[in-house]
Amino acid sequence: MRTMVKWNKDWLFCLGDAPEYSAPEACEENFRPQNLPHDWSVEYEPEEKEKTGGGGGYAKSGIGWYRKHFSLECVPEGEKLYLYFEGIYMDSTIYINGKKAGGHGYGYTSFHVDITPYVRAGENVAAVRVNNSLVPNSRWYSGSGIYRDVYLVRTDSVHFDHFGVRCGTNGIYPKQNQAALQICARVTNDSEAHANVGVLHRVYDAEGALVSTSGIAISLAPGETGDCMVRPTVEAPHLWTDEDPYLYTLESTVVKDGEAVDESSARIGIRTAAFDADRGFLLNGNTVKIKGMCVHHDCGLTGAVGYRESWERRLKELKEMGCNGIRCAHNPPVPVLLDLCDELGFLVMDEAFDEWLLAKNKTDNYYSENLAYGSSMFFPDHAKEDITAMLRRDYNHPSVVIWSIGNEIPEQSSADGVKLLKFLQDICHREDSTRMVTSACDNIAAVEPIRTSREFENALDVVGYNYAGRWRERAETFYEEDRMEFPKRRMIGTENPSAGGTRGDYSGKGRFGSYTNASMGHEALWRYTASHDFVSGDFLWTGIDYLGETRWPSRGAGCGPLDTAGFRKDTYYYFRSIWNKKAVTLHLAPSSWNFAGEEGSYKQVICYTNCDEVKLFINGKYVGSRGYECPRYGCVKAWNDGWEKRGRITTNDLHLSWDVVYEPGTLRAEGYKDGVLAAVEEVSTTGNAVQLSAKADRTELCADGLAQIELSALDEAGRFVPDACPEISCVVEGPAHLMGMDAGDLKDLSLYGNDHRKMFNGLLLALIQADAPGEVKVKFASENGLEAEVQLQVRG
Ligand code: GAL
Repeated sequence: MRTMVKWNKDWLFCLGDAPEYSAPEACEENFRPQNLPHDWSVEYEPEEKEKTGGGGGYAKSGIGWYRKHFSLECVPEGEKLYLYFEGIYMDSTIYINGKKAGGHGYGYTSFHVDITPYVRAGENVAAVRVNNSLVPNSRWYSGSGIYRDVYLVRTDSVHFDHFGVRCGTNGIYPKQNQAALQICARVTNDSEAHANVGVLHRVYDAEGALVSTSGIAISLAPGETGDCMVRPTVEAPHLWTDEDPYLYTLESTVVKDGEAVDESSARIGIRTAAFDADRGFLLNGNTVKIKGMCVHHDCGLTGAVGYRESWERRLKELKEMGCNGIRCAHNPPVPVLLDLCDELGFLVMDEAFDEWLLAKNKTDNYYSENLAYGSSMFFPDHAKEDITAMLRRDYNHPSVVIWSIGNEIPEQSSADGVKLLKFLQDICHREDSTRMVTSACDNIAAVEPIRTSREFENALDVVGYNYAGRWRERAETFYEEDRMEFPKRRMIGTENPSAGGTRGDYSGKGRFGSYTNASMGHEALWRYTASHDFVSGDFLWTGIDYLGETRWPSRGAGCGPLDTAGFRKDTYYYFRSIWNKKAVTLHLAPSSWNFAGEEGSYKQVICYTNCDEVKLFINGKYVGSRGYECPRYGCVKAWNDGWEKRGRITTNDLHLSWDVVYEPGTLRAEGYKDGVLAAVEEVSTTGNAVQLSAKADRTELCADGLAQIELSALDEAGRFVPDACPEISCVVEGPAHLMGMDAGDLKDLSLYGNDHRKMFNGLLLALIQADAPGEVKVKFASENGLEAEVQLQVRG
């Protein structure tokens, strides 16, 4: 019977290279204990001299080795042993007892290594060489090392293939109140004898009730792998949607000679997903607009390591913002991200590559000494293996609604590009008959010779438009001209401008300009997308700030409404106001009224809201009323019918704006819906920070679990101080340790793992990992003597 155990503990690590590190008896004096997942790049401060450059976030690269001693009581005859690596960046070679057992180039696909022939009863040594020394090789921060989980998998000789059970929804039949599933199992007979086996599938609902049983027999010669398919029905299916992400569990078993010899478990959702040239994205047959965000894989202070807790906090924030889509830019993500998308209800675009055969520039000025480093190094020999790895691993996730075979692939304009496109798209179709395929094209309306070829566009199931609004005179018509020319074309905005900036910075000096126009890049396109069904939706660049793709002295790109620490910027509320229809949004920017020295000068006050009218006051004095509607409802006669009756000023922007003469005190906004006061927002001039507040996202956790503690600076009256930046130090008492702190300031280049860090505009995040059961005290102190404490309970 299959066992699958996490194999993250008790590794040794050394940054450096020596051929003898593969040998079981190698000298380990240069090695130190290391648990996985591990990213060695994040253990160093970014340095301008690093060859990873601005693209790679000036991160440390190099060659590193991991070693692990393990013992096996015995290796039973006929059993198979595998190591399963969810991700190693990059170019790894795996040795067992000194012999090469496998390896993997591309840094973002998961892979298995069959170690059966190399292990022995008694002591064994696994050694992994990771080569991230050919840099620059990435346009964003990649991290280095075994940065995702590792598992030891043991199976019987007759077993499911890796990711061998795949379940999709074959059809939903409302009249019959039934859904048909399509479950395909791939079974391998690694024994020396013929095997007649049965494959059983049981589907359980979220309460654990059995809702479907099916089975099929298959006969396998020695060494043979075979597929078998069943199409069971589920009565009264509870469908999975982005608003109600209901999950079932599929338990599958291989039975041989009356005995269960392998089993597999997967969470599944019953739903159909399709793209339509007229109706856009269809979830269970209904048009759903994708309000999506692109995310890179890093999680700020943990670098390339994406813990479940970190992604959960970040994704919940995006969900609360009204976002319902995630594009995994530009590579398959850590599996827990997809688990969370299944649970929280995100529509995912799972993407394979940023490069095919042609490499892209990797440095901040888009020039690099050696273009050829990067994933294109592995594409010629491993493209099929890598894309198949994504398709099989992620198949069962109901959240994944479309595959992307590439981002801004240079071949989109080359004569041979369409051949490669078809090669990849055909693999997707063969592996998965339920999902459509796109590629994110950035040159659809560019000039020759870089313009995307029409052949390339037309070969795609769904045409992915990157920055549709970028193309000058086409900018106002966006997708329109293409729809006229190709009425059957399915369209999705694969990448478009988000609304970034620096949290709490109102100087207007940053790369993203001023808070006064932060949302404008998105507004025009959204008005279009929201009101045209045939555009399936958008994925914006990006949902969260990320490391890399920057210029010195900065470590990352501030493209998102959330910073790297997961804190909300003002623009978060812009998206929330137009996307989250269930909650009332009323937010003022600046969200600080501490502008000493600027008395008497004009400040533009921006409001993001879904109230229909907002009245603004400064120190009790009425400034004015504003309102907007998008899309505009209830217009039955002329375009401007009814406006005069509403008696308020409206605007064509998706935000409101007033010019206010600055005076210290309180800005007060009153939001009205249908004439009734629905929300009040106040921004006041504060005093100095005299208190620290610390709030943990959880106070009970298991060993290895993470607690995320948000610190904020408060004044005497308990008001948030939006410009406080004191240095904070952290001490952990008890069986836990500090993993690092981040305040979202991309210009703070100090080590995330330090036990002290500057707050940035009133906020700081600390990440604590539990080691063993017991009581933990996390104590914070600021340089000016403020203190806060959080108690955590670690359970066994
Ligand atoms: C896009 C690209 C992204 C990122 C972005 C920067 O064209 O697909 O990976 O580079 O530009 O704004």
